[in-house]
Amino acid sequence: MSNYHIKNLEEYFHVYKKSIQEPEVFWEEIAEEHFTWREKWTNVLSWDFSKPEIKWFENAKLNITENCIDRHLPTRGDKTAIIFEPNSPDEDALHISYNELHERVCKFANVLKLNGVAKGDRVIIYLPMIPELAVSVLACARIGAVHSVVFAGFSSTALSTRINDCEAKMVITSDGSYRGKKTIDLKGIVDEALDESPGVETVLVAKRINSEITMKSGRDIWLEPLLENASSECEIEIMDAEDPLFILYTSGSTGKPKGMLHTTAGYMVFTAYTFKNVFQYQDDDVYWCTADIGWITGHSYIVYGPLCNGATTLMFEGVPSYPDYGRFWQIVEEHKVNQFYTAPTAIRALAKENVDFVNSYDLSSLKVLGSVGEPINEEAWCWYNEHVGKKKSPIVDTWWQTETGGILISPIPHVTPTKPTFATLPLPGIEPALMDENGEEINGNQVDGKLCVKKPWPSIARTIWGDHQRYKETYFSAYENKYFTGDGALRDETGYYRITGRVDDVIIVSGHNMGTAPIEDAINEHPMVAESAIVGFPHDVKGNALYGFVTLKEVDESSETDNLRKQINQLITEQIGPIAKLDKIQFVNGLPKTRSGKIMRRILRKIATNDTGNLGDISTLLNPEVVQDIMDNSLQ
Ligand code: PRX
Repeated sequence: MSNYHIKNLEEYFHVYKKSIQEPEVFWEEIAEEHFTWREKWTNVLSWDFSKPEIKWFENAKLNITENCIDRHLPTRGDKTAIIFEPNSPDEDALHISYNELHERVCKFANVLKLNGVAKGDRVIIYLPMIPELAVSVLACARIGAVHSVVFAGFSSTALSTRINDCEAKMVITSDGSYRGKKTIDLKGIVDEALDESPGVETVLVAKRINSEITMKSGRDIWLEPLLENASSECEIEIMDAEDPLFILYTSGSTGKPKGMLHTTAGYMVFTAYTFKNVFQYQDDDVYWCTADIGWITGHSYIVYGPLCNGATTLMFEGVPSYPDYGRFWQIVEEHKVNQFYTAPTAIRALAKENVDFVNSYDLSSLKVLGSVGEPINEEAWCWYNEHVGKKKSPIVDTWWQTETGGILISPIPHVTPTKPTFATLPLPGIEPALMDENGEEINGNQVDGKLCVKKPWPSIARTIWGDHQRYKETYFSAYENKYFTGDGALRDETGYYRITGRVDDVIIVSGHNMGTAPIEDAINEHPMVAESAIVGFPHDVKGNALYGFVTLKEVDESSETDNLRKQINQLITEQIGPIAKLDKIQFVNGLPKTRSGKIMRRILRKIATNDTGNLGDISTLLNPEVVQDIMDNSLQ
């Protein structure tokens, strides 16, 4: 018998030990008993972090949509697979059963095929949180096409960079999207992007807001009539365990986003297993993750993990503040949500509002509360626990990354005692390590260091699309034979982990990974800008906000700096998207640099966080004189 579902702490320790001592036996049992395979593997795991090369369930054959949909039909055909809750509460929610999901996915898959998409082709999906998003993801997987969902808040430039990087031949989008009171012209953004992406042959357009849009003949096609005419049966494509499932872009410390590639079998097994345990999902539960499917959280814990377990998963199109700050709680009451998974930034934003917004709704259905995306501060943790969970629903602070595919460190609710701000213990199969400045592993408890993982788990990303060397350098070169996460962490006296934040040039803003380099590249495109450096500073809702230090080519006393600030943020919005806008922009005469010309961000970070008591030795700088000047004019 496999240990698929952990029910108490003793069992956790037992299962964890087994998973570390005999990982292959552990994962093989789970894979064998809980999934449908067309052919079994010949080897459970082979790996070499020095190349790096990782293979799970080698030579097994399967299709993830057979596991997410078809195998549930005999027993759960009429069960709701997806609840779609629209942006406006005036529009009715939609309940899509497993039978209906099967039909929708098959039809969509046939439409893809009829429009020239074949196994291995890349398809970019740029859609709002409407059912077509989940359905198109699954339709790609059904025919072996590699989906790459781009969050529909990204700009046309960011979109075309991603299309070109993975050489997608098709884009799936909608006429527009609803976001609270606003509508967004998604198709217009796609049109602009495609001016820079001539490789795209077809654009499928879903109708959502009924806006007037232009359709380019020979390229753009309305989705609805195609779906109406498509057959509702579509055989699965038989995939190899290591065939690509999707590419998801994440920003890194250079300008170019990293297309993290996830493959089929390991990703499926790990996301399903972690979903079951971290949320303790029971058969009639309603589960809701508020993330967008454009992020990894949505891929793994709105679509694949829940559906693999035959769960009911809710997808919400709107925002927490529309029509008012009670919207989340109204949805919890309306659909009797049992597991609720959101981000600290949302919790902090809601905690600022009148608590009556929470108390006006019946939240008694809730059993588990989740948090993801950044460290959850104690105040937010306590508010969530008290007002939403009524101190009876454990909070699972889940730590993981786009690269990890699934949750690596998290409490198991009602099993692991929780502790505010701690992600607590590694899940089975995960062996964390903390590393010191000399690259040595730090043993024992009550220590802190840089967080690594010692061995591969099934859903680790296999490469960066088109750039294996960068994959190796980013994750496997800092420490020999270990996966480096880019995060710092501490281990307390009981062995619990607390993630302290990024240790590289990535800043987490409202739970979104922001590489500083792409933002600086965008700013530097302004004709008046000479140079720029971005650092983070604490923000009470976003967790971190962005502070830009900018030098201008010609300093003119009459420069309209407010106007320049607007233009800089406009450039960032165009190149990346509004989520990357700067909260503060300080124009400076020079940036502090080392003698080799590297910008000393450490000093800028201290200035931005108003922590200038101990700047360290600045005398070795190339230009120590600029530091005082920057401090004197700081916007803090
Ligand atoms: O710094 C960690 C932070 O988010 C980073 C990963 O971001 P992304 O790839 O966008 O994935 C976010 C959703 C999985 C991590 O390196 N992070 C994520 N979850 C937590 C966290 N930091 C602290 N606590 C968490 N629970």
